[in-house]
Amino acid sequence: MDHHGAAETHTPSGHFRVSPESKAPYPADVLAALHADAELVIARYPQRRSALLPLLHLVQSVDGYVSGRGIALCAELLDLETAEVSGVATFYTQYKRHPNGEFTVGICTNTLCAIMGGDQIWEAVSDHLGVGHDETTPDGKVTLERIECNAACDYAPVVMTNWEFFDNQTIASTTELVDDLRAGRRVRPTRGADTVSTFKQVSRVLAGFPDGLADQGVGAGGPSIEGLKVAAEHGWTAFGTDEGGDQDGEQAPDASTAGKATTGLTAGAHSSTNAPANKPDELPGERTASDAADDTGTREDAGTRNDTSTRGGKGAEPVDSGPARKNGPARKSGPSTKGDPQ
Ligand code: FES
Repeated sequence: MDHHGAAETHTPSGHFRVSPESKAPYPADVLAALHADAELVIARYPQRRSALLPLLHLVQSVDGYVSGRGIALCAELLDLETAEVSGVATFYTQYKRHPNGEFTVGICTNTLCAIMGGDQIWEAVSDHLGVGHDETTPDGKVTLERIECNAACDYAPVVMTNWEFFDNQTIASTTELVDDLRAGRRVRPTRGADTVSTFKQVSRVLAGFPDGLADQGVGAGGPSIEGLKVAAEHGWTAFGTDEGGDQDGEQAPDASTAGKATTGLTAGAHSSTNAPANKPDELPGERTASDAADDTGTREDAGTRNDTSTRGGKGAEPVDSGPARKNGPARKSGPSTKGDPQ
């Protein structure tokens, strides 16, 4: 069947059309707000270019997708080439290069969900809406996606709407869900927040501006913690843990509170939080052989790091790091288009 919608709103490939504003300058007030928000995001990172992923979400929170002007703005703010920004934006599926619907509905058809009926839900809902994968309904409300695992297999078949869970779905329940979304009726996820924010609102959260909904509702539900209950009953602990706490001081989930929003890691105790970051931006010629050796773990006097004579301290003689080692292999000048740019 033809899933490509009305010709005036959709491209021949089924995508919502990109408006001429995609490359037009931002209005002055919008641009000022973007700059202010972007500086808050950039300030969280030791290197400006590490802020690219959240800044792309910030662009989506304003334009509803990664627009041409958004790419230009990111490149300007982070001192990158527009091709580098485009390379990242086209790699990750959460970044949309054409206008997205108000709600992204992702139907999982991966192994477990497929066994439990995901393929049938996909076929029925795609036919019902008249759109295929990554296509948007003519009213701009729903973008349909065929998902490879929503990381909620214990609730198969699972559908996500703007990354909120709708568990144990059927053809009828998912059809009702998309009808409610298109009609503007409130929908309630099975877990997590008690409502679904719009794509632009969620994009702003992903950019790093919380909406206060993160701790709403149940996090891990019953099926997710069945294994934890069995382990608690038998006194089992994971290798390397000590009575429920691991080597990083994290607190293991408590089976007695299983299913409540407090279950899981202690707030703020995750081992990646406040971990030492890499060094701030360096200027060409600042690196020394010692710095390079530190990065590669080949420094011979690694156990005596208090020696500052080769670390660029006042009065110190810089050691020639050699032409091939000025910036070290781990410090490329820009993000890879095939990997995490951070
Ligand atoms: S297979 Fe569907 S959520 Fe994992």
